[in-house]
Amino acid sequence: MCGIVGIVGGRDVAPVILEALKRLEYRGYDSAGIATLDDGQLTRRRAEGKLFNLETALTAQPLHGGLGIGHTRWATHGAPTENNAHPHATDRAAIVHNGIIENFRELRQMLLEKGFSFSTDTDSEIIAHLVTDHLNRGKDPRRAAADALRELEGAFAVAIIFSGEEDLMIGARRGSPLAVGYGDGSMYLGSDAFALAPMTNRVSFLEEGDRVELTREGAVIYDAAGRNVERTVKITDVSAALVDKGNHRHFMAKEIFEQPEVIGHTLSEYLDLVNEKLHLPDLPVDLATVPRITIIACGTAFYAGLVAKYWFEKLARISVEVDIASEFRYREAALPEGGLAIFISQSGETADTLAALHYCKSRGQKTLSVVNVVESSIARASDVILPTFAGPEIGVASTKAFTCQLSTLAILAVRAAIARGQIDAEEERRIVHTLIETPRHVAEALGADGAIQDLSVDLAKARDVLYLGRGHNYPVALEGALKLKEISYIHAEGYAAGELKHGPIALIDENVPVIVIAPMDPLYEKTVSNMQEVIARGGKVLLIADKAGIEHAGEGLWESVEIPAVDPLIAPIINAIPVQLLAYHTAVSKGTDVDQPRNLAKSVTVE
Ligand code: G6P
Repeated sequence: MCGIVGIVGGRDVAPVILEALKRLEYRGYDSAGIATLDDGQLTRRRAEGKLFNLETALTAQPLHGGLGIGHTRWATHGAPTENNAHPHATDRAAIVHNGIIENFRELRQMLLEKGFSFSTDTDSEIIAHLVTDHLNRGKDPRRAAADALRELEGAFAVAIIFSGEEDLMIGARRGSPLAVGYGDGSMYLGSDAFALAPMTNRVSFLEEGDRVELTREGAVIYDAAGRNVERTVKITDVSAALVDKGNHRHFMAKEIFEQPEVIGHTLSEYLDLVNEKLHLPDLPVDLATVPRITIIACGTAFYAGLVAKYWFEKLARISVEVDIASEFRYREAALPEGGLAIFISQSGETADTLAALHYCKSRGQKTLSVVNVVESSIARASDVILPTFAGPEIGVASTKAFTCQLSTLAILAVRAAIARGQIDAEEERRIVHTLIETPRHVAEALGADGAIQDLSVDLAKARDVLYLGRGHNYPVALEGALKLKEISYIHAEGYAAGELKHGPIALIDENVPVIVIAPMDPLYEKTVSNMQEVIARGGKVLLIADKAGIEHAGEGLWESVEIPAVDPLIAPIINAIPVQLLAYHTAVSKGTDVDQPRNLAKSVTVE
């Protein structure tokens, strides 16, 4: 998703902006640009593709000036070309924008009629012209920006600079995040605190509808009603160290291998090992009586929610609905009085999830969010948050955030079971021990890396792949298929194993690998008979199971991957590891852009 950086004050700010943009790469983008004010004149450089191209352009023709804005663009309206890259500019104003201007067609028509001409296919360009239109009417820049912003409809964040104004930048937030950074004699704007971390740790987050006027001396903020407001300046603990790949080839590999550590970190936040009890903050509802739980998320986080449904229902006997945020927000769901709505999001900025949260609040639900970014919009809007401690996740395809979400949700489900009298103190103690073993088992599961790397060479030749699982392994199958298609571009589908006969079995032939996730558990026999149905039709089965599961699988497997035998409670966390590794190595075999797969964004801040 697009990233914004702005700096007011300093010497030549372009190189600093470029470094900050690198910290926003993880959001996903396909072009980039920077504009500065050089001796009062707006100048800019833009480039298609990765930041390296922009860097090359800047080396050939440096930008000068102590005020500037930068942008990484994830194309929405208009192809990812240099011409469509931000900043967009007239001779009077330059802008960067994240989000969608919904009424851009009408505004563009209005501006065309006034004699403005457009050089790009983007919705964003109209902002530069609209601001210029207001400037042409004799308004000062602050007023021109405020009036132009008022005409825009949609969800967005923008930063605006003006020719001849060496000490002024306007920022605005409506739907997309924007943070204000406070330096000494310089001020900053950024899509998140992470982008600003090398420059400052003093940050305030604009609220919905806010507009900010930045000068070297500070920030003046106005709310949606135009009132001058204060927003708390926080000291963030976002690390300034540029996240690197360590000794891994890709961030995704680094993040997969970080899982024992970050799952351990997450679990230890919520387990009191001394007293062998759970250790969760006070919740906004009484789990003993809550009538229903509604879980809402997107992508991989949605699959974490699906696993959680199995846990909440089985352990705590609570009725749970799970929904994809983009569906939930428009289907006018009926929600029970006093219900709990749980939102799961790595970034905490996913637009559909945030909108669903607002809907639930307006319908009287108590809200709890499982987020990885604690200063995110979803976190700040929730009654209570259960942070995951995965650390910054840079690979677009989520891995460590997923297993940290599962770890947190497992604990919450156990907490609900205790509240409802389904689990007693002794069982709680046993579960605490089971949970705390998770990082070790994850490390064991990572031991299959070499074997998975070998067999992924063959998997990379497939055009279609099926993933099958039952019970809590069904969402793991869905996640496995999502991971594979995201980064290797191989078409993959996850299916409930029992559903095989109702359609997908027609796809089976020797060219379609079928990955079956079936460790030895009470559903093992059922899944294995589905697997045998595949083998009987010439299908090529890769079984992911523990030692006992592989031994009892019968004849005819194409391949198997052994995972440790673990308690069913933590099995989905362990079983996620081989499917992540399979996707990773298959993508590497295919030579795709693993960390930034085509067309995907890390943080989806448009609906
Ligand atoms: C994008 C990412 C996925 C992620 C999903 C939800 O599609 O590419 O990896 O699962 O958004 O993001 P969230 O930040 O809300 O977890």
